[in-house]
Amino acid sequence: MSAMEPHAETPVEEDFPSDNLPEVHIVSGIKPKEVEAVLAMAAASGRFSSDALMSAEDMAWDSAYGGGGELHAFILAKTGGPAGPVIGFLCFGPIAHWPENYELYGIAVSPEFQRLGIGTALVAEMRRRIGNGRGGRVFLETGDDEPFAGARSFYEANGFDQEHRFHKHFIPMEGGVVYRLNLDADDDPNYQ
Ligand SMILES: CC(C)(COP(=O)(O)OP(=O)(O)OC[C@H]1O[C@@H](n2cnc3c(N)ncnc32)[C@H](O)[C@@H]1OP(=O)(O)O)[C@@H](O)C(=O)NCCC(=O)NCCS
Repeated sequence: MSAMEPHAETPVEEDFPSDNLPEVHIVSGIKPKEVEAVLAMAAASGRFSSDALMSAEDMAWDSAYGGGGELHAFILAKTGGPAGPVIGFLCFGPIAHWPENYELYGIAVSPEFQRLGIGTALVAEMRRRIGNGRGGRVFLETGDDEPFAGARSFYEANGFDQEHRFHKHFIPMEGGVVYRLNLDADDDPNYQ
């Protein structure tokens, strides 16, 4: 059973590290009109495999038209207000048959808005929705080669550690690196 909080558009106040950053809103949920922008961002990043893109597409349409009962969830970053254009997204959900364990399926921020703390804000909101400090873990798989070096640095900067153990509930599909984030307040550098 998911411990995630209800599926709703929830504006979240975030402090961002740059003075030049336009107003950014972090919201939960995805609307049908936002699906194409999210999928285009994922495809343009070049960091989503065709399988990952197909499942992102399924999950995005499911979330956009679902009644809130879907297990996976989208968190969007928008600029110029909660109804503004999407400049980043994160998708996550619980791992089947493994209580308190979640998977971060994908994250991307538009290139012109990268290195401004938006990816970190998306991860912080995921943590908040799962329930910071209540225990549990978030797993993800990413590439182990040079094109994914930035993504690995990002995950490490956000408290993820490389997982070297084998977990039967989380088997990497693409042979990459598995990362694990412990949802424990003591381990979260951004937790206050
Ligand atoms: C990975 C990604 C989501 C990060 O988003 P972001 O908003 O730029 O990340 P943040 O600004 O919150 O970065 C926080 C920290 O992570 C690290 N980091 C982020 N991107 C990095 C990069 N390209 N190279 C090295 N370190 C990086 C830095 O320590 C950074 O802090 P700093 O800017 O103060 O040095 C973004 O680069 C992206 O969309 N990449 C393409 C898609 C992708 O790779 N997705 C993940 C794999 S599927």
